[in-house]
Amino acid sequence: MKRIALVTSGGDAPGMNAAINATVRNAFAAGMEAFGVRKGYEGLIENDIVPMTLADVEDVIELGGTLLGTARCKRFEQEGARRQGIKNLKHHGIEGLVVIGGNGSQRGAYGLHQLGFPVVGVASTVDNDLYGSDISIGCDTALNTIIESIDRIRTTAESHRRVFLIEVMGRHFGYLAMMAGLASGAEIVITPEYEMDPPEVLDELRRFHRNGRDYALVIVTDGAKNNVAGIHEYLSRSVAYSEFEMRVTMLGHVQRGGAPSTYDRSLAAQLATGAVELLERDDPGKLVGWKQGTLAYTPYEEVVSKKKELDSQLWMLSRRLVEINY
Ligand code: F6P
Repeated sequence: MKRIALVTSGGDAPGMNAAINATVRNAFAAGMEAFGVRKGYEGLIENDIVPMTLADVEDVIELGGTLLGTARCKRFEQEGARRQGIKNLKHHGIEGLVVIGGNGSQRGAYGLHQLGFPVVGVASTVDNDLYGSDISIGCDTALNTIIESIDRIRTTAESHRRVFLIEVMGRHFGYLAMMAGLASGAEIVITPEYEMDPPEVLDELRRFHRNGRDYALVIVTDGAKNNVAGIHEYLSRSVAYSEFEMRVTMLGHVQRGGAPSTYDRSLAAQLATGAVELLERDDPGKLVGWKQGTLAYTPYEEVVSKKKELDSQLWMLSRRLVEINY
């Protein structure tokens, strides 16, 4: 291949710029030209594709977000839009595409692959829900941000003897909530895999209370059926102010922003290098992820058809460690 392009797509993740940097540098090292697609798949459809130089990736490793921009592109689900994207890539003489993104983005990449265009994926999402990778770019940074925030919330919760309902990202996958629970010792964790009805939450809070815990942290995944709003509403109706006070903290997009951690920078460098190598040896149609301490190449057919499961052992451990006292 002489020319390749790269696109960052879906929700941004800290470390995407480090992945762009490694993709462009590896392409140049292999004697290929690199092109950047701006604003995710929107740019692919609209032919917003620009040549990239080494100067474009100077001093970007440490920056959060993505210098190419990104988008959630609903219309890319249509075959016509994907065909238009391929036409635009071919117009520039581009023979392969690196897609840096999460689940929706890699499903879009699979669509291009099915239409015969050479594409490889780089696992990048704070949610860490991609099948084919134990860990994805951005997740470590997001977790560090979450833990720093929860540690701060704990000191004020303890001082005021309050219950805090804390919403974290993750959408349909409870990894961030589970890991945040494990690393912070939060009393209750609610995820799409381990739901709890509001009355159950109240029973649990009362049990903690009876056993001497006069404050509590409840971490909830944003995509859980029993979300923070519903639980808060129920508790507000059912609990007297004198029993316990409550506050809600939605951590929101703070979790996706900021400079990437060392781990995410290093992961991004390695996954992006693996992706360019796949294109170089004309072996596309795979997601490059990280499994058991090394690069893992998973065919797109598997990535889109299989579901990543939450580690139940880790979940049990995190809950058991809290239960030991109560
Ligand atoms: O997929 C990443 C993610 O941050 C989810 O955790 C969250 O539910 C969603 O994106 C938020 O999406 P948006 O940035 O489009 O509001």
